Amino acid sequence: MTNTWGLRESATFDRAAIAEIRRAADTGVYDIRGWGAKRSVPHFDDLLFLGASMSRYPLEGYRERCDTDVALGTRGARYPLHLDVPVTIAGMSFGALSGAAKEALGRGASEVGTSTTTGDGGMTPEERGQSKHLVYQYLPSRYGMNPDDLRKADAVEVVLGQGAKPGGGGMLLGQKISERVAGMRTLPEGIDQRSASRHPDWTGPDDLTIKINELREITDHEKPIYVKVGASRTYYDTKLAVHAGADVVVVDGMQGGTAATQEVFIEHVGIPTLAAIPQAAQALQELGVHRAGEKGVQLIASGGIRTGADVAKVMALGADAVAIGTAALIALGDNDPAYAAEYEKIGSAAGCYDDFQDGCDPAGITTQDPELAARFDPVAGGARLANYLRVLTMEAQTIARACGKAHLRHLEPEDLVALTIESAAMARVPLAGTSWIPGS
Ligand SMILES: Cc1cc2nc3c(=O)[nH]c(=O)nc-3n(C[C@H](O)[C@H](O)[C@H](O)COP(=O)(O)O)c2cc1C
Repeated sequence: MTNTWGLRESATFDRAAIAEIRRAADTGVYDIRGWGAKRSVPHFDDLLFLGASMSRYPLEGYRERCDTDVALGTRGARYPLHLDVPVTIAGMSFGALSGAAKEALGRGASEVGTSTTTGDGGMTPEERGQSKHLVYQYLPSRYGMNPDDLRKADAVEVVLGQGAKPGGGGMLLGQKISERVAGMRTLPEGIDQRSASRHPDWTGPDDLTIKINELREITDHEKPIYVKVGASRTYYDTKLAVHAGADVVVVDGMQGGTAATQEVFIEHVGIPTLAAIPQAAQALQELGVHRAGEKGVQLIASGGIRTGADVAKVMALGADAVAIGTAALIALGDNDPAYAAEYEKIGSAAGCYDDFQDGCDPAGITTQDPELAARFDPVAGGARLANYLRVLTMEAQTIARACGKAHLRHLEPEDLVALTIESAAMARVPLAGTSWIPGS
């Protein structure tokens, strides 16, 4: 940054900070965008696996199996979810996404035998029709919530928070409130909709217990009940969720995507996914429900998962499955370089497009504009997503076999080391080449 002493950019007031101050002064409104945190925080790239050699015995990829199936909701549901692969599709709202994009998520997930999830705004028939395993979100907004759809689902996810905005509510701006979106939410067309930051019918874990029992009664004790939290005080939140009766705890780290939230929130609230998973796993271990078979409470983690290596790392840190949002949208066709010129026209670039709130997505995915949405083919999109999910799974299997594991869930923290002191402390694994876990 140093040209001469007289021409030196400030590390504190760098060009991005100055541009934001100028934008705020020009407009008087805070910035809203989609996507997750873009700042650099300790992440899965800071971890490495210890492949087997002499002291550990690797499995042979062509001859020896490495299984990937997972059962979710074994503790309280009559019909737990049995998935072939542990990579699930996270809840993304109809409203944020077009109807065809939701359908494509169902198609892709079903092709590989995993689940997809509704979102704020309710369940669409296309999504239900194309999803073999569909998780129904029960959100603070209650937009689109109805007991018939609860019963049509295969599991229920009580959303307390999201990693991109723990403690904050949702936003769907007027430009995306089409007649159909408005109808499902029973709110007026074209008017900004903000979702509440907390559920109106409970104020703490005791009330949540009552709510979970109510959901079990409505669904005849058949469906697993998940509780989703944004990562912040994850150790305590996990314990409270288990005490309240959750069958599955979903922890979403700060890199987790969102459809539309204040930029200041996305970048400054919550903790990295890497730091949250060991806290959740510890809480489950102390309660005796971590990887405890039928009596277990399963852990799903999300927030910034991109590759099979990320999947394997999340599982090694203690999760039973992962959920992906942003990566699934990219697999469908979001940020496609084929639309480079159009991204430029709206002041963005393929690879940087995060203005999901505007509804002008050239790829036709995060939009309710009928002309843009018509560009997206749910069959082709679903096939792309299925391919991507297969690659994630095969990559994770490759790593697990190299660590001598015959099932992805056998991966453990002992298989990992960290590249930096920060990531070692957060992930609770040794700094590479040492036996030092900072803080332990
Ligand atoms: C477009 C979009 C819409 C979302 N809508 C919801 C939602 O309705 N409910 C919810 O709990 N989370 C929502 N999320 C968050 C995801 O469920 C998930 O927690 C997050 O995307 C995971 O992080 P990742 O995007 O890095 O994979 C949304 C995310 C995106 C990108």
